Amino acid sequence: MFVKDKQPTQVCVNSHTCFSFKNEENLLIAMEKQNIDVHFHCREGFCGACRTKLVSGEIEYIIDPLAFIDDDEVLVCCCIPKSDVELKTY
Ligand code: FES
Repeated sequence: MFVKDKQPTQVCVNSHTCFSFKNEENLLIAMEKQNIDVHFHCREGFCGACRTKLVSGEIEYIIDPLAFIDDDEVLVCCCIPKSDVELKTY
């Protein structure tokens, strides 16, 4: 699924890598393009391997997440940022 054109949002990861998220399919792909080391397996919201802490901002799920995560965590393989976001990988 591709996201229609929208204003870029700023994504910062681990307090040091920041980039603009524009039209990437999901946050996992955007992070990989930045060479950010992020775990993944299924890429479909079930395994939980891509679970990442959402420090600030809002995301929107484009695929319903099925894996268990805490309230302050997101599955980056199935979401996009809704606002500027700050993430912390494990
Ligand atoms: S890679 Fe499996 S839930 Fe994201």
